[in-house]
Amino acid sequence: MLLMELDDPFLKRFSGYSSRFANVTAFNRFSAIYAIWSNYGLDITVLYAIWSKRLQEINHAGAGGLWAELVSNRGFEAGGQNTPSNIWPWSIVGDQSSIYVATDRSSLFERNKIALRMDVLCDSNGCPSGGVGVYNPGYWGMNIEEGKKYKVAFYVRSTGDIDLSVSLTSSNGSLTLASENIIASASDVSKWTKKEVLLVAKGTDHGARLQLTTSKKGSIWIDQVSAMPVDTYKGHGFRNDLFQMMVDIKPRFIRFPGGCFVEGEWLSNAFRWKETVGPWEERPGHFGDVWKYWTDDGLGHFEFFQLAEDIGAAPIWVFNNGISHNDEVETASVMPFVQEALDGIEFARGDANSTWGSVRAAMGRQEPFELKYVAIGNEDCGKTYYKGNYIVFYNAIKKAYPDIKIISNCDGSSRPLDHPADYYDYHIYTSASSLFSMYHQFDRTSRNGPKAFVSEYAVTGKDAGTGSLLAALAEAAFLIGLEKNSDIVEMASYAPLFVNTNDRRWNPDAIVFNSSHLYGTPSYWVQRFFAESSGSTLLASTLKGNSSSLVASAITWQNNGKDYIRIKAVNFGASSVNLKVLVTGLDPNVMKVSGSKKTILTSTNVMDENSFTQPEKVVPHESLLEMAEEDLTVILPPHSFSSFDLLKESAKIRMPISDSSSTSSQKV
Ligand code: AHR
Repeated sequence: MLLMELDDPFLKRFSGYSSRFANVTAFNRFSAIYAIWSNYGLDITVLYAIWSKRLQEINHAGAGGLWAELVSNRGFEAGGQNTPSNIWPWSIVGDQSSIYVATDRSSLFERNKIALRMDVLCDSNGCPSGGVGVYNPGYWGMNIEEGKKYKVAFYVRSTGDIDLSVSLTSSNGSLTLASENIIASASDVSKWTKKEVLLVAKGTDHGARLQLTTSKKGSIWIDQVSAMPVDTYKGHGFRNDLFQMMVDIKPRFIRFPGGCFVEGEWLSNAFRWKETVGPWEERPGHFGDVWKYWTDDGLGHFEFFQLAEDIGAAPIWVFNNGISHNDEVETASVMPFVQEALDGIEFARGDANSTWGSVRAAMGRQEPFELKYVAIGNEDCGKTYYKGNYIVFYNAIKKAYPDIKIISNCDGSSRPLDHPADYYDYHIYTSASSLFSMYHQFDRTSRNGPKAFVSEYAVTGKDAGTGSLLAALAEAAFLIGLEKNSDIVEMASYAPLFVNTNDRRWNPDAIVFNSSHLYGTPSYWVQRFFAESSGSTLLASTLKGNSSSLVASAITWQNNGKDYIRIKAVNFGASSVNLKVLVTGLDPNVMKVSGSKKTILTSTNVMDENSFTQPEKVVPHESLLEMAEEDLTVILPPHSFSSFDLLKESAKIRMPISDSSSTSSQKV
């Protein structure tokens, strides 16, 4: 039997508890700055740590994932400027006797000059039934659902009349799910013309494709083809099911767009925000050479800010600092990159009349986005010009935007930084046993200097499988350690958030999806246990007994005006553990605690994972928590992560009521 003692001395120590807590939560909603409530070293601290999400373009998290655009390579630009004829994954409907397809540089859009040319060699007598043309399978099949609407837009030009079918079909084209004809005279389409149709699906196919076909002889040019589901979050273009998985974790910030995506293997392939704003048709797209796929950049700088706002999270923008994996801009020449970062901030925060704020306004957003955190580069600390470049960025940003918090790539957890910063970035990918033992990692970190931002953590290697319970348990222990050190670790976010299972470029990830389905890995579910930790209050707790495989913590938090204590415990060992919890410090005349809910994440085998066939094999299970008197005795199953919610209530509330007003006035 292990004993956990919790101390909850609020009522005894702080008479102004209610109002002060109200301030805390209100403040926390705005963003997330750690503020210590009592002097450091006392046993009560207020958690402003914001536990959150990181959205980097990796594994098709955005293109072919959260960004709901169904067409892949919509402008026929994939491959970049050096291989302009790469139309993959577009394919041809018909054969060489009926159609000839090529690309040329005749697009009306200056930044993406490539267009598709179809020479249709057959006519209504000779063309195969259904016509000839091209199709796009999207990202390993489009999810088309019966009754749902899809907006298809594209640009077309021709030397003659056109009669074009725009259809959503089954994966092999044999079944038509929705179709509309576009008929126009030569004079209408002699110049590039935008065409739009709304398709309503009369069937469901998770692997559907978009076809543009015709049985009319002639030459047709096509460019910038988009197919968007009408039903996206707030109409903002985010795939609803993936968006909801993010919301459920209550993220307080979103770090975007990378990761290494920001850096590129080469600077020429790095994410450069200016190429990702403005009308979608005009964005050139780019080849992300770290994760080796093309993005049309529909999810661009603007959309990332919109996403953060829609989710109620603070945006943390990571930008390129003149450094990629293989090339660097020396400090003396870095000013254009600095200006680009300043412009990117102005795009988000500037008023609608400012140079870059006006670009945002032209995209439909007059009022600025709230941007308070930026990170200068990603994992670049050891690079030759990092520190030199960093200082130039730091000074320029602080001068223009003194309130913006700046995140350095250099780890300040073991020795002080030699440059100014508000936060330092900390990444950790390691084995399960090693991450579990890093529960104490920040215990001895200096409390002076910048705060820690643990922006990437996960178990990797064979312990991780493709999302194992073992990995999740080690991560839970590590997170408990961060929670206990939240006076210095203000922010934490997991390894990549999403993976499209058709193109897994990084493992492990929190949410696995394909065109139509998704599931959370055990690591995702661990993060759900911490959803209430932001803005909550850490309680002093002591574990007594002998178990090196147990890690536990306790917080108090509020829900619907009620106060709760949440005890979280990881049993990393192969035997069950009996845990007795003693809550001390409550004034027995005022407060009592009673059981409320217990939640347990475990499985029969520690390497168990979720999958599309068993998406809920390893998920938390909730049940009623029975509690006799003030003490709680619980069993922690082998290899498990558990939480126990205790409701704090007035001890007098259940007494025979003689004076109800005095009773309620004592309730906190
Ligand atoms: O999270 C996956 C990658 O790991 C990130 O892109 C990079 O920052 C880290 O190396």
